[in-house]
Amino acid sequence: MPAVNKICCIGAGYVGGPTCAVIALKCPHIQVTIVDINQTRIDAWNSEDYKLPIYEPGLEGVVREARGRNLFFSTDVDKGIQEADLIFVSVNTPTKKSGVGAGFAADLNYVELATRRIAAVSHSSKIVVEKSTVPCRTAESMRTILEANSPAECRFDILSNPEFLAEGTAINDLFAPDRVLVGSLETPEGKAACDALTEIYANWVPRERILTVGLWSSELSKLAANAMLAQRISSINALSAICEATGACIDEVAYAVGKDSRVGPSFLRASVGFGGSCFQKDILNLVYLSECLHLPEVANYWRQVVLMNEYQKTRFSKKVVDTLFNTITGKNIAVLGFAFKADTGDTRESAAISLVRDFQAENANVNIYDPQVVHEQIWSDLSEACPTIPLTTLQKRVKIFSSALEACKNAEAVVIATEWREFRDIDWNVVYLNMKKPAFVFDGRILLDADKLRNIGFKVTVIGRGE
Ligand code: NAD
Ligand code: UGA
Repeated sequence: MPAVNKICCIGAGYVGGPTCAVIALKCPHIQVTIVDINQTRIDAWNSEDYKLPIYEPGLEGVVREARGRNLFFSTDVDKGIQEADLIFVSVNTPTKKSGVGAGFAADLNYVELATRRIAAVSHSSKIVVEKSTVPCRTAESMRTILEANSPAECRFDILSNPEFLAEGTAINDLFAPDRVLVGSLETPEGKAACDALTEIYANWVPRERILTVGLWSSELSKLAANAMLAQRISSINALSAICEATGACIDEVAYAVGKDSRVGPSFLRASVGFGGSCFQKDILNLVYLSECLHLPEVANYWRQVVLMNEYQKTRFSKKVVDTLFNTITGKNIAVLGFAFKADTGDTRESAAISLVRDFQAENANVNIYDPQVVHEQIWSDLSEACPTIPLTTLQKRVKIFSSALEACKNAEAVVIATEWREFRDIDWNVVYLNMKKPAFVFDGRILLDADKLRNIGFKVTVIGRGE
């Protein structure tokens, strides 16, 4: 079994950063270097005041303990690669925007560039680990590239080790994962590489939670896991529409259904729609894979999960317009929350972006507040979502505030887009006093105490609850 003394992680993002910081924390005998081509990101990881590039509860403590001891962040990608025995490839794999498979297939350009760099600068054999989420059989392409471009004395063993952490709970997920999945070839070398990676995780993960499977099963399991999680949300959201039309209550339905041990209670929270960088991307990837494999019925099945999510988002914004007497032109709508979920500053595919875009199409004024999302990110997301509206016009119609109370002042309606706990604790009496009347609240996250708000005087609409 090859000894692993030095690890390099290519990609210092939401996955590479926390994952390899935790490996460094739990394996003080291994030197871990996380490299990235993005200088600003690396500077933030190295910042003296620990203003890290991503907000993640518990992450700062991990970095404080390991950084400078056996954890290093650098833009020197080549040096990181050359020194390492094992390399994680944890670069982004977004949905392709143009060319073959545009709008569905994963853009593997970053994975390929990282792989080519490994081949170009390596002087010794290495284990190369796919950490990024990739389509089935990507490991084969990586091996072909590595073998065709590297010195004869270097051998590369490729493993698949997809990441299952969720943002907002990443550190807990990494400390105590449900499972760690390692995929390898069935060859003696493949098995030895698999053992080497297993030994690293075994420093803190119970061995029975480290699953070893074939390479292609591992790659597909990651897409399958995300598709099935997203499918549960789309299922509960589809039922939320029936609840609103019939007077049934989606939390009661989810509770009753989830009590069946074969179904289970988690991931049945109805919402304004799932967001995040991965669910939609990975399902579209699965749709594309199915189509390439001439399985159109399978492709259509998974496509429906994304279509239902789109429907949920537009259904919610239409409800706001309908309830506000069929027009929101010139009205002030406060949107509380802009991140795709609580406890993260990440806005990728956030439902809030779709909502604000829809409100802009109706010529409303929008007041946004989010406790973690940086303002530049909001402007960048909205500019992309509303390409026909010049930024100067957008900045007249949309304002960003530094507290929920300020954002709600003079508003006709408050929309809860992210389930930040602090929104529960706002002084809703003060919010009510400062709003135009009638004062509406639209809870897209089933977060607030609707009865309490109604007693104050609000007109309240909650996703998945009939009037
Ligand atoms: P990210 O965009 O936050 O980070 C990727 C980083 O890779 C960027 O900082 C980029 O500059 C860097 N990079 C790209 N090409 C490079 C190269 N050639 N050399 C050096 N650095 C390079 O992405 P992320 O959210 O960390 O996701 C990474 C992968 O993990 C994706 O495939 C994603 O699907 C998967 N994943 C993400 C999550 C999540 O919660 N975000 C969870 C599980 C899996
Ligand atoms: C998700 C998966 O949970 C991770 O296992 C996976 O590693 C990751 O994607 C990935 O591959 O990127 P993440 O997107 O960070 O993690 O967060 P989730 O907690 O899964 O939430 C995703 C979206 O679904 C959020 O917008 C959340 O608000 C929404 N959601 C979640 C619901 O609407 N209802 C629920 O019951 C659960």
